[in-house]
Amino acid sequence: MEERLQKFLAEAGIASRRKAEMLIQQGRVQVNGKVIKEMGCKIDPAKDKITFEGRVVKREAEEKVYLMLHKPEGYVTTAKEQFGRPAVLDLIHGVKARIFPVGRLDYDTSGLLLLTNDGDLTYKLTHPKHDVDKTYIAKLYGVPDAMDLQKFRRGVIIDGRKTRPAKIQIMEKDKDQRFCMVEIIIHEGKNRQVRKMCEAIKHPVAQLKRVATGELQLGDLKKGKYRFLTEKEIKYLQKL
Ligand code: URA
Repeated sequence: MEERLQKFLAEAGIASRRKAEMLIQQGRVQVNGKVIKEMGCKIDPAKDKITFEGRVVKREAEEKVYLMLHKPEGYVTTAKEQFGRPAVLDLIHGVKARIFPVGRLDYDTSGLLLLTNDGDLTYKLTHPKHDVDKTYIAKLYGVPDAMDLQKFRRGVIIDGRKTRPAKIQIMEKDKDQRFCMVEIIIHEGKNRQVRKMCEAIKHPVAQLKRVATGELQLGDLKKGKYRFLTEKEIKYLQKL
């Protein structure tokens, strides 16, 4: 049966569906020996030979793998990095499947990062129309007052557009009010969104950690360590 090339590549664990589209545009994918750069190309996995950078791509062989990593600060989320900084995949050992991160955390952000070879799930979780709550604990400079908090909750302008309503709650202030700890919940995942939203209310982020994605909790997983998701967690993600 025919299907879209990018869907096939995602299901084969090459990359997320969107990333697969980029790989196609970059001319890194061949169908029956011919480079295909147009979107919307349909292939029949039973008849066509698909190669990515010269390697034959097969779908059925690979079992789906789902991991949760406690990303430390000082790691990039991309697989390879032009400046040679450490990447999150350097922290994963003994997993043969070609896994990749679901969405991204900034170099300086720590916390919950999912990794999988399930391209469909990645697509679902990173697509703006699926509102998965992301919960962060942030250390902010200063202490926002009631007006600042209200502004944050209603949405602030970043990069020329208003953010969707978000939650913020002060958990702790230090004695001289130089810093505070807040819990922030957002649905969107724009580039550096939490940092930009906090800058917009003039209380920039000093430290940022993601502690939950939807109902998945980082819990007491140690920094730099990872674990496989439970059956229950995988079912939860697939049902979203
Ligand atoms: N928001 C940010 O600003 N940074 C992250 O890493 C995640 C969300």
